[in-house]
Amino acid sequence: MAASKDLTGSGELIVEGLSVAYGAHSLAIEDVHLRVGAGETLAVLGSNGAGKTTTVRAITGVLGSHSGRIVKGSIRLNGVEIAQLSPFARVRAGIAQCMEGRRVFSELSIDDNLRAGAITRRDNAAILRDVEAVYGRFPDLAGRRKEKAGYLSGGQQQMLAIGRALMARPSVLLLDEPSLGLAPKLVEMVAETIAEIKSQGTTVLLIEQNVAMSLDLSDHAVVLETGRVVLSGPTAELRNNPRIHAAYLGGHTGAAAV
Ligand SMILES: Nc1ncnc2c1ncn2[C@@H]1O[C@H](COP(=O)(O)OP(=O)(O)OP(=O)(O)O)[C@@H](O)[C@H]1O
Ligand SMILES: [Mg+2]
Repeated sequence: MAASKDLTGSGELIVEGLSVAYGAHSLAIEDVHLRVGAGETLAVLGSNGAGKTTTVRAITGVLGSHSGRIVKGSIRLNGVEIAQLSPFARVRAGIAQCMEGRRVFSELSIDDNLRAGAITRRDNAAILRDVEAVYGRFPDLAGRRKEKAGYLSGGQQQMLAIGRALMARPSVLLLDEPSLGLAPKLVEMVAETIAEIKSQGTTVLLIEQNVAMSLDLSDHAVVLETGRVVLSGPTAELRNNPRIHAAYLGGHTGAAAV
């Protein structure tokens, strides 16, 4: 399809004036502006309830299944408005996500979960190679490929969720707290994986409770506070910002809640 072909390739994501409401509640996010240049990584910081996940849901198109809706604003991928597209069409356009709370298909095998990530692809030989690449990246999964995903530990399910997102070969990858609940060694592995994804030219939007790690991995960062962007800029600048330092990096690096 010509339309989806135009959208794939380098992934520049621009969100402008985005406001979202859930049901009859007041706005969860208001007038949010974000720009992630092709191949860049943007860190989205903010305390619990600030609107990080809501922003990701609006970009992937899954607000409807959470009784939420875009009230106004635009979301453009490579200059093309995508806010009206179905979630599936957005995956086909190159957007993949690893959602908060490791959403794997627990009744499906690990293998089938990975294949499900490639549902928009037709290049079967490359899909098989990519499945093996995920197993190479996460050896814990490799020995258990025929087992139900529901039998995996929490951390292993998290690896599977990241692996499944990669199977879409996205141009834009949205990661919502990929290291949540993982042991330090696995957090390191997730960080390495993100660095590698980035080095392959994929655009990444990263929400990460481990703020030090998130700043290390990103080019730019935005800070959300009660649904609004209150700070944004190059990571190198924000890292030295006293507000960021006090709220996110002061003394400990593992907690985003402020
Ligand atoms: N399905 C929903 N229905 C009603 N309100 C919701 C829903 N999901 C989120 N909200 C509200 O929207 C606001 C933003 O929530 P969101 O989940 O986007 O925050 P977050 O920054 O991802 O927080 P956390 O760090 O805890 O994951 C919060 O006030 C939250 O209560
Ligand atoms: Mg969240």
